[in-house]
Amino acid sequence: SAAGGLVVAVDGPGGSGKSTVSRQIARQLRLRYLDTGAMYRAITQVALDRRIDIEDPVAVAEVAERTVLTIGTDPDQSTIHVDGVNLDEQIRTRAVTNAVSAIAAVPAVRARLVAQQREIIAESLAAGGIVVEGRDIGSVVAPEAPVKVFLTASTEVRALRRSRQLGEKGVDDVARTLAELDRRDALDSSRTVDPLSIPEGAIVLDSSTLSVSEVVDEVMRRSEHLLAPA
Ligand code: DC
Repeated sequence: SAAGGLVVAVDGPGGSGKSTVSRQIARQLRLRYLDTGAMYRAITQVALDRRIDIEDPVAVAEVAERTVLTIGTDPDQSTIHVDGVNLDEQIRTRAVTNAVSAIAAVPAVRARLVAQQREIIAESLAAGGIVVEGRDIGSVVAPEAPVKVFLTASTEVRALRRSRQLGEKGVDDVARTLAELDRRDALDSSRTVDPLSIPEGAIVLDSSTLSVSEVVDEVMRRSEHLLAPA
C-alpha cells in the first residue's frame, strides 16, 4: 500500500552517518530527501549575521518568524536559501555548529520549522515519499512514518567523521571536535522541547563498525515487508 507515499524517518546524534545513509536510502528507493538540521542551521546563520543574542529566546523566535526558508529535497544536491540568499556553505561552519543547539532549543523556532517540515513531507507523498533526517523526526515530526531508523556511533568515531568533514588533519582538531560534539549532544539530548530520543519502533543501528552500504542494507532488510511492491 504505497499509494500514500513512503516516509522514512532517520534520527541520531551528530556524526552518526545520518546524512550519508539517508541520501543513499532516498536514491535507492527513489524518494526525496529532507535535511532538517540544515533548517536549524540556516536560522542560526541568520541570527549570527544579525548579531542578536542567541541566548535570548524572544529575539531568536523573532528571527525564525521573519525568515523565509526554502530547502531543496533532491538527495543528490542540497540547497538552502534564506530570503533568496544561498547558505549551503555558511551553515556548515564551526560558528554555526557551536551555536545551533541554543537556537534549536527555542520552542517557537521548533514549532515553525516542524510545521514547514510537515508541509514538505505532505507535498512529497504524491511523488513517492521522502527520507527525513534529524533529531525528532520519528518522535515528533512524522511519528506515523512506517520506517524509523535511529543511528548511533561511538563518540570517537563520530568526532573523527566530523573532523574529516570539516577538512581537519591534526589530532588536536579531532580532540577539539570531540569536546564540541559531546557538548552539543548533551544540549540536544537534555533540552526540554523534543530532545533527541529513540522513537518507538525504530530500527536501532550502531554505525561505528559498519560501512554506509552495510547500514543501508540492514535498514532495507529489516523494513523489507514495508517496502515490497504490492
Ligand atoms: O544534523 P545537524 O548536525 O545538521 O543538526 C544541527 C543541529 O540542529 C543539532 O545540533 C540539533 C538540531 N536539530 C534539531 O534540534 N532537530 C532536528 N530535527 C534536526 C536538527
